[in-house]
This record gives sequence, C-alpha cells and structure tokens, in this order.
Amino acid sequence: MSWLITGGAGYIGAHVVRAMVQAGLQPVVLDDLSTGHAQFVPDGVPFVRGSVLDHDLVEHTLDAHAVQGVVHLAGFKYAGVSVRRPLHTYAQNVEGTRALLDAMAAVGVANLVFSSSAAVYGTPEVPLVTEDVPKRPTSPYGESKLIGEWLIRDQAIAAAADGASLRHTSLRYFNVVGSGDPVVHDTSPHNLLPRAFEALLSGDVPKIFGDDYDTPDGTNIRDYVHVADVAAAHVAAAELLAAGRPTEQAYNLGSQNGLSVRQIMEAVARVTGIDFTAKIAPRRPGDPDRIVATGELAARDLDWKMRYPLDEMVRSAWEARVAVSDADVAPERRHASARHDRSPYRA
Ligand SMILES: NC(=O)c1ccc[n+]([C@@H]2O[C@H](COP(=O)([O-])OP(=O)(O)OC[C@H]3O[C@@H](n4cnc5c(N)ncnc54)[C@H](O)[C@@H]3O)[C@@H](O)[C@H]2O)c1
Repeated sequence: MSWLITGGAGYIGAHVVRAMVQAGLQPVVLDDLSTGHAQFVPDGVPFVRGSVLDHDLVEHTLDAHAVQGVVHLAGFKYAGVSVRRPLHTYAQNVEGTRALLDAMAAVGVANLVFSSSAAVYGTPEVPLVTEDVPKRPTSPYGESKLIGEWLIRDQAIAAAADGASLRHTSLRYFNVVGSGDPVVHDTSPHNLLPRAFEALLSGDVPKIFGDDYDTPDGTNIRDYVHVADVAAAHVAAAELLAAGRPTEQAYNLGSQNGLSVRQIMEAVARVTGIDFTAKIAPRRPGDPDRIVATGELAARDLDWKMRYPLDEMVRSAWEARVAVSDADVAPERRHASARHDRSPYRA
C-alpha cells in the first residue's frame, strides 16, 4: 500500500515525501512540474509526471500503485498573482481538487490530507488565530483553498451516505520556511526568505515592505514554521487517518509565536554573515499587521511541535539555497556555506 503525494516535486511536497520514506510509508509522486523540480524527488520514489486535472492518469496511478491515501499539495500558491489570474488559480486549486476527489471515489481511495492555508482566514482581527475564527479570504488563492476544504467535506458526507467513506483532514499552513534536505529549497520568487537570499546573492539588499505597521518594530508579524516540522505533521495525519482514528476537519500548523520581518532580516544577517540594512519599500496593499496562529489542536493530535529555532530555520534555507548555486556565489557571500549534517531525514 502506498500514499500518493500530489505536488511531491515541490518545496513542501518533497519534504513530505522524505518524511514519509523515513516513517516507512511508501510515497508515489504525481506532479506536473509547473513549479516543481524532478530532482527534488528522491531516488527510488516512483514519479509520475502529469496533472491532477488528468482524471485518467490520476485514476490509473491510484490503481497501479495500490494507493491507500493521498496527500494533496499540488496547487498554485501565489496569493498576489491569483488576484490577476483567478481563473488559473481556480482551475488548479478548485477543479484540481474536484478532479482528484472524483478519481479517488472511482478507485475507492478513502484517506485524504489536504494542503490548506492561513489565507482562508484573510486578515483576522484576533491576536491568535484558532481554527474556528471566521474564514474571510481576501484573494482568489485563499478562496480556492477554502472551497477545496468545502469540496472535501461535502464529498465525505456524500460518500458516507453511499455507504463508502472518505476520511480527511486539512492542514492550514502559515509561513513555511527552512529546508530539511540541502537538495530541496523554496524556489518561490514571492516568499520572504527566497527574495532576501536572491537580493543578497546578486549583491543587492533585501526589501522590507512597510515599517509603519502597528507592531513593536513597525514591520509585519507573521508565523514562521520549519518545513520539516510541517512535513512531520503530514505523516502523523496520514497515520491517524489510515488507522481510522478521529481527526479534526482542519488544523492550524501555527507556532503561537510571531516574528517580525525585521527580526527575520536580523537572523538573515547573522546566519549569512552579510551585514546589510534592509531597504524600506512602500507597504503592499492588504498586508495585515499581524497573523499568528495557535497550533494547539495539531500539538494534541499530530505531535506538532517547533523543533527548530529561528536561526536554524534561516540557516537551513540559506544552506540549501547556496548548495544549488555554489558555483555562482561569490566566495565572500558563502559564509554559512553548506554543512549538510543536520538534515532531519538523515539516519
Ligand atoms: N509555501 C507556503 O508557505 C505555503 C503556505 C500555505 C499553503 N501552501 C500550500 O502548500 C502546497 C505546496 O506549496 P509549496 O510551497 O510546496 O509550493 P510549490 O509550488 O513548490 O509546490 C506545488 C507543487 O505542485 C505542483 N503542481 C501544481 N499544479 C499541479 C497540477 N495541476 N498537477 C500536478 N502537480 C501540480 C507543482 O509543480 C509543484 O511541484 C500548495 O498547495 C500551497 O498552496 C504553501
């Protein structure tokens, strides 16, 4: 029996794949490589190149690999871009989830872990976001994730009425950073750490968007979590579902601890050894002062915990980024150059 990891060639999916291998589960990757990388899939893990929108391919893959459950990470994750490309976002995230559910029902696959997002909450006006905070997404991306959760819930109700079953849970991620394997890094052109690293590697200084927010140092506060911890929560969720144990419909993978953009920049300077003063750019529209979540339900059910302090999150991300481009990086900018002995996926 195996687990299908859609989006398993992406940043988070590739970590989920490694965590599953380490836990003795058998992952199979389905990915269309629209933003993923074939080299992120570890040797020995079956890789099917294709889209979740391809019903026949998904059905065949579920059947051929005797899949018992799916971790559905495939999707389009750029909230800002989704405002300009709502149809694309809905096709990938909503139609993609619908098509996957259809194929799962056809083959009788009854377990699903869904990659949801903090974006379902929009801009919550509470200091700590719990799962029951009203969902008011402010982008097509956030809407598409919320609709994904609804689709799964509705399909589970329909399956139960038909005497079948769909056990499921959604994991709502906040700001996922770091690397658990130097082969895999976040290649997003929009996320804070990749943007900061690209600026430094090209001899520029990173930008902070706005320093006049209502926070102690004036910069936005967000909830940063290490990707290896996020991956471990997926394994725990998959194991609970496969064992038929009860789960919540959704879990926040939050740290309960906000960090400001300025604190992240200070950590980047410490870890890289590059002394810089970030450029202050204008605020980005719609950026709230603070979003921080509790992870209490996940801690209770999914053994969710923060195993890595801030500098370790930043260091692992930097090392993985530098490892892919050592040849391109000026020697004086390689301060923390790759020491690969801290991977949580190593025996
Ligand atoms: N990175 C974050 O901080 C964050 C936060 C909240 C939620 N998420 C969600 O987590 C999931 C994974 O994010 P990530 O950061 O690893 O992004 P990513 O872009 O690195 O990974 C997404 C993967 O899905 C693949 N993919 C996209 N559309 C596909 C399709 N139709 N069929 C098959 N494969 C497809 C891509 O090629 C890529 O490998 C996404 O669903 C994203 O919305 C990420």
